[in-house]
Amino acid sequence: MEILNLKELDKVMDSIDINKPAPDTEPFRQYYFIKKNREYVKKKSEELNRPLTCSVNTFGCQMNVRDSEKLLGILEQMGYVKSESENADFVIYNTCTVRENANRKVYGHLGILKHTKKSNPDMMIGLCGCMMQEPDEIETVKNKYKFVDIVFGTHNVYKLAEIYNNRIMADGQVIDIWDDTDSVVEDLPATREYPFKSGVNIMYGCNNFCTYCIVPYVRGRERSRKPEDIIDEIKALADDGVVEVMLLGQNVNSYGKDLPEKVTFAELLERICQIEKIKRVRFMTPHPKDLSDELIDVIARNPKVCRHIHLPLQSGSTRILKAMNRHYTKEEYIALVEKIRSRIPDVSITADIIVGFPGETEEDFLDTLDVVEKVRYDTAFTFIYSKRTGTPAAKMEQLATKEELNDRYNRLYNRVLQISGEITNSFKGRIMPVLVEGISEQNDKLLTGRLSNNLLVHFEGCKQLIGQIVDVELIDCKGFYFIGSLKE
Ligand code: 5AD
Ligand code: SF4
Repeated sequence: MEILNLKELDKVMDSIDINKPAPDTEPFRQYYFIKKNREYVKKKSEELNRPLTCSVNTFGCQMNVRDSEKLLGILEQMGYVKSESENADFVIYNTCTVRENANRKVYGHLGILKHTKKSNPDMMIGLCGCMMQEPDEIETVKNKYKFVDIVFGTHNVYKLAEIYNNRIMADGQVIDIWDDTDSVVEDLPATREYPFKSGVNIMYGCNNFCTYCIVPYVRGRERSRKPEDIIDEIKALADDGVVEVMLLGQNVNSYGKDLPEKVTFAELLERICQIEKIKRVRFMTPHPKDLSDELIDVIARNPKVCRHIHLPLQSGSTRILKAMNRHYTKEEYIALVEKIRSRIPDVSITADIIVGFPGETEEDFLDTLDVVEKVRYDTAFTFIYSKRTGTPAAKMEQLATKEELNDRYNRLYNRVLQISGEITNSFKGRIMPVLVEGISEQNDKLLTGRLSNNLLVHFEGCKQLIGQIVDVELIDCKGFYFIGSLKE
């Protein structure tokens, strides 16, 4: 829970009369529906003689991870208990549509859930997120997945309690999708995945319209949150034990441009660094076209800002970058990286890279490889271009064959991996501060932590250290992570 702590929310809840009509203003309207739904959940769980369980499953990016925390916060307030398995009384899929295989995965999961629902007819299934903003997908869900109870999109996540109420009052599937919104609803509950770190939305939407990307169509236009709301949220998180925040926006460099009060992302970042209990600040994602000198300066002089900049390249060919509507050239990108590295020497630079944008030739691809050689990324996410209906690139002709695309992808992937291994290995022997994140998934005798530059390290230590920043010696490089040893 943030902004409002639990006690404050309880007080507001107490003052709400659910026998009266629902209030019109947010977030009070949602508090009203949360309270109404509590009665229903209580009744159902008395019938079953056990608590009702819920499972929120996230596909895609950090934005979706954060939205899922909000969904879980609302469900817990309604009386649901979080379940670790998908065999729950209420299952939500928060979907992604950035590439075609993300969509396929969701339908795969739904196929399995259909059977689960047969053995638990009271089970509720919800679909939300980016994929649901696509009219064709809604048609598919309406026609082929009638057993899905509620469907909503990216603009009305905060309305889960009201949509749920509509479902229990109605007979069939409830679909509530908005094309866009200009409002930002504050003060709703959220349940964090980690007690000591949290994502914080600073803005929603994207105005860039890179020609391959579906995001501007499914997440709408840019809307910045007010700086005071962001600062208040982070202060409340800090009071609740959070030491690391990740500021989230599709292009954080655009932050504040739509607000009446002129404020830049760099100014916001500097203000956040002044919150004493916050020890680390990350952000995602800055666009290379408008990353300002002011931002580089703020990062350089604030050690709390993590030494990691994710700087999506997408392509190294100036010709393809133009076709992608990225607004920078190969040379400008390389110069930007050099400038960042000269001012922030220990910074890790990572990227997203797409192979096979329509019209990409071998020569264009060699330009991408050349940037990889020159920049030497700490690591990079590599993707094969996926055609998204409705984007300008979907109408462009693909010149390369499937074999050529796979071959390019493998060459890129292998080179990125090799360089990444070399860079990771260069940290060997250093003693560096690590935020302990939890018990290692591979070996429950080890803890897992993260360096400021985002590198992972596993080491022996007691679990009381989780959430703390400790010094660890990096001993054995295992490719993209280290085995380390705790320094007292
Ligand atoms: N095909 C392949 N990759 C894509 N991305 C966005 N759209 C597409 C697409 N149509 C990648 C970009 C972006 C990341 C989040 O996903 O590299 O930075
Ligand atoms: Fe998509 Fe480009 Fe916006 Fe990123 S900046 S979300 S790639 S349109």
